[in-house]
Amino acid sequence: MNYYIKNLSEIYDDISKEIIGLVNSKANPILGLATGSSPIGIYERLVNAYNKGEVCFKNTKTFNLDEYVGLDSYNPNSYRYYMNNNLFNKIDIDINNTFLPSLENCDKYDDMIKTAGGIDIMILGIGSNGHIGFNEPYTSFDSLTHVTDLTESTIKDNSRLFSNTDEVPKKAITMGIESIMRSKKIVMVITGKNKKNIIKELKKGIVHESIPASILYRHKNVDIYIDKSI
Ligand code: F6R
Repeated sequence: MNYYIKNLSEIYDDISKEIIGLVNSKANPILGLATGSSPIGIYERLVNAYNKGEVCFKNTKTFNLDEYVGLDSYNPNSYRYYMNNNLFNKIDIDINNTFLPSLENCDKYDDMIKTAGGIDIMILGIGSNGHIGFNEPYTSFDSLTHVTDLTESTIKDNSRLFSNTDEVPKKAITMGIESIMRSKKIVMVITGKNKKNIIKELKKGIVHESIPASILYRHKNVDIYIDKSI
């Protein structure tokens, strides 16, 4: 596991360059994508590169980590809306090659990823409680894509984007921890003042289901980028 502590803009530069390198060099690149505040600068840079003619996403497929249960694609808080708005509608990707987990495809999602060729680069953020995707503490390390209940701490963290806490869905569909671990490479961005404690916990290097992200110590190809200003 490699840790890099850098300015957030350098982090976004590094990761977007790596993604562009992959997309420009591989016939069928497969990206795993996260939403939320942490990866937003990556998407901005991918859009800028596309606008400058530096990258073409026509052959790229994407699989998002998670989606709320009960929010449709027109709901600005849905992750489909976020992805369309921040990336997919602004580049030349075929929208039919962009996938998010849903109640309908939940049981097939891991097979869909496998059939596509497996995720080349998986982008992750981390919750203040150590969640990855919506795999909350004590989710089995063997889990595949599944429906899950959100914890109070995640509902509280995510309520900043809703008009009040009651509007935050209580359930989500998420790639499981094993689904994430199958990715060929994992890149995590850690930013946000509320992540200070979880960084300390993670750096202890103890792998335990109480901190879902700690599983990353068992993966051979992981870069963790920490925002210097936290
Ligand atoms: C989002 C996701 C979540 C977030 C995490 C951090 O698709 O899977 O695990 O990465 O909750 O969220 P932010 O980046 O908003 O702090």
